[in-house]
Amino acid sequence: MKVYIESYGCAANKADTNLMKNIIMSKHEIVEDPWKANAIIINTCTVRGETERSMVKRIRELEEIGRKNGSKLIVAGCMAKAQPALVMGIAPEASLISPQRINEILEVLESSGREIRIIGSGTKNLERTIENGLTVTIPIAEGCLGNCSYCIVKLARGELRSYSIEEIKRVVRKAVERGAREIRLTAQDTAAYGMDIGTNLVNLLRELLQIPGEYIIRIGMMTPNNTLKIIDDLMDIYDDDRIYKFMHIPLQSGDDEILKLMNRKYSTDDYKTIVRKFRSKYPTGFIATDIISGFPMESEEAHKRTIKVIEETKPDKVNVAKYSPRPHTKAAALPQLPESIRSRRCREVIEVSRRISLERNMMHVGRIEDVLVLKVDGGIAKARMKNYRLVKINGCGEMLGKMVKVKITEAKTTYLIGELTS
Ligand code: SAH
Ligand code: F3S
Repeated sequence: MKVYIESYGCAANKADTNLMKNIIMSKHEIVEDPWKANAIIINTCTVRGETERSMVKRIRELEEIGRKNGSKLIVAGCMAKAQPALVMGIAPEASLISPQRINEILEVLESSGREIRIIGSGTKNLERTIENGLTVTIPIAEGCLGNCSYCIVKLARGELRSYSIEEIKRVVRKAVERGAREIRLTAQDTAAYGMDIGTNLVNLLRELLQIPGEYIIRIGMMTPNNTLKIIDDLMDIYDDDRIYKFMHIPLQSGDDEILKLMNRKYSTDDYKTIVRKFRSKYPTGFIATDIISGFPMESEEAHKRTIKVIEETKPDKVNVAKYSPRPHTKAAALPQLPESIRSRRCREVIEVSRRISLERNMMHVGRIEDVLVLKVDGGIAKARMKNYRLVKINGCGEMLGKMVKVKITEAKTTYLIGELTS
């Protein structure tokens, strides 16, 4: 059978796509053109309204190709799980498979009829979710412990299920042995890791750092509430040279009332405490955060408080999203703000954030830094500093995977420019 796969969304979805490809390739062929396939798989994302709309459009297109070509359509991923009725409405013949049952992809593919497999869960072979390369992304858990009122991901990905330390360690060791230099640990909430199996992120990191080799670990998104529970031990372990001085702590709002409505289990002060602890140790350390602008009931004052917290804590990067109501979520039932207000607030947060990003990047101009080269693209090397900043260097492929010394010559909003020092 010839199978075409298309994938959208976050690292967790990417990992699921890798797993499907791996399973399928043992018996069938993966092709690059949906018109040449007997089966089409789309691994969907539905985090925001705009994502949903682009998925709907794409499912329609693939459904049409499938219909004209007599090929089977399989809709996998978060939309299949969280909005099955929507998918069935636009592609009535499609099979559905949830993120939890991805391991059954072969049966769905080979079945002569239509399969709906979106209830319950199976187990995933962690190793088969991983791609070879200098950068390797490893999911350390599925789901989360939260119940945020705006979030449809929870509905799609469910309760926290952490992979065991032994399994993750085995996979990381293999990746390092195969030449990986950057290890990205990801989860919906990396700070919640292990809380379902009687351990935690710090214990995991301690074990992983036993693995010999020249690699560097990037710790993914961590909710402030769960980060706070382990912050002191976490800051101790961050001292290891093989952990990027990088934290992704989604604040979502700088107003405590809105945080309550969002059902986020921390206050702005909690977030500030984390930033203070991290930056007092690592003044140039990289902080990424997420903001949702225009959440229901967000007053102009609340919006201004968000901007104030950003100005005070100076995150290096802010992912700003305009709030969009998601089906089956509590926030969707609250009174909504007009689109124009949501858009304007979103723009204002972006403007402040970009100014701060540039300011923070400017601090590095003139410095000599060690950077790890992870990509070479059209004669330009892309490298990461120990604090995760991206540095672009004019250079050749021989530097790939190497640590080099550069002089930072220029700062942009989202990266730095450097020259090799000889
Ligand atoms: N587990 C993460 C969130 C995953 S969703 C957490 O704890 O925050 C990734 C990002 O999408 C979120 O950080 C949020 O900023 C944004 N997002 C999620 N739902 C949204 C919605 N309904 N409208 C706008 N942005 C949303
Ligand atoms: Fe969503 Fe909150 Fe979990 S944003 S993924 S419910 S931590």
